[in-house]
Amino acid sequence: MSGGAGDLRPGTRAVHAGLPAARLGEPFLPGPVLASSFHLAGDADPAAGYGRFGNPTWERYEAALGELEGGEVVSFASGMAAVSAVLLALVRPGDVLVCVDDAYPGVRSIAREHLEPRGVEVRGVPTDDAALLAALPGARLVWVESPSNPELRVVDLPALAAAAGAAGALLAVDGTLATPLRQRPLELGVALSVASGTKALSGHSDLLIGHVASRDPELLAQVRAWRALTGGIPGPFEAWLAHRSLATLGIRVERQEANAEALAGLLAAHPAVRGARWPGVGCVVAFELAGAGPAQRFIDACRLVADATSFGGVHSSAERRARWGTDAVGEGFVRFSCGVEDTEDLLADVAAALDVIAG
Ligand SMILES: Cc1ncc(COP(=O)(O)O)c(C=O)c1O
Repeated sequence: MSGGAGDLRPGTRAVHAGLPAARLGEPFLPGPVLASSFHLAGDADPAAGYGRFGNPTWERYEAALGELEGGEVVSFASGMAAVSAVLLALVRPGDVLVCVDDAYPGVRSIAREHLEPRGVEVRGVPTDDAALLAALPGARLVWVESPSNPELRVVDLPALAAAAGAAGALLAVDGTLATPLRQRPLELGVALSVASGTKALSGHSDLLIGHVASRDPELLAQVRAWRALTGGIPGPFEAWLAHRSLATLGIRVERQEANAEALAGLLAAHPAVRGARWPGVGCVVAFELAGAGPAQRFIDACRLVADATSFGGVHSSAERRARWGTDAVGEGFVRFSCGVEDTEDLLADVAAALDVIAG
């Protein structure tokens, strides 16, 4: 392939990202390197030599994601391993952490159960531009999720990034829902783009992986050193599967978004449904039914929709989010993740399930 990656659309970039130059008889994407130890030649090599320090399969995956994110990437065993690397390696006792109240529950737990007791001031704020701007003075790190989930709020990232920079704070954005196909936080001035690749990025509900992207080599060095020390490394097989899955990211997201838009339209027009929303990117649609019973009966009545947590997979799934007790949502709140089924089939299935609860 010739020409810079910059002249290509994101879906095309995802097909080719991180692949080695064509060589006669070689595969497009070389297989996973399964190794804990590598041959060394006399001197120590802190970047290689041992499977916790480096692995060619992750490095290829990181190069691929770096092309999509527009920065350098450090990959992790899961989204939470990536989150904790940022929060625990970059926030010190005496620092102020601003964290949105509807961040992924694990993020809030790290802040409250591990940072606060170590002398970090944690400021919880709603996912709201004015509230975030007001919380900036004195902050070391600002953590937002945009679009947030499960409530699907969005933040003006360029404005917040500029204000955070002026206040001397680092802005970290969890962009799991949008994926770098739809949102590249680093291009918007954000210091750290963090995501769970367990969701739409890998998209098949068959692995956990995560990453941190940045354009700041010093921040990345701290995050990478944290990974090598604590061992939150991705398995080579998972990294390889995630890399393989990037090739279909564009078509998966296109279909998921087409399904999400159509589903949001159907739900908005249905008398049993309140508050149907889709933020315009990603696979998740949120809505409310009249309590826990109707919401669970709806999910159970769908034939094509798995009762499952998480989102972003090729198979549609839904859950009554209040069952976990971790989010400020009503008992009838449903988080619906659109898969890649044919739109007509998915809509017919949902419409029939809504008839069941109405009848
Ligand atoms: C927005 C968001 N960030 C982070 C995570 C954590 O990712 P993982 O489950 O891969 O550790 C999740 C998981 O659900 C998530 O939804």
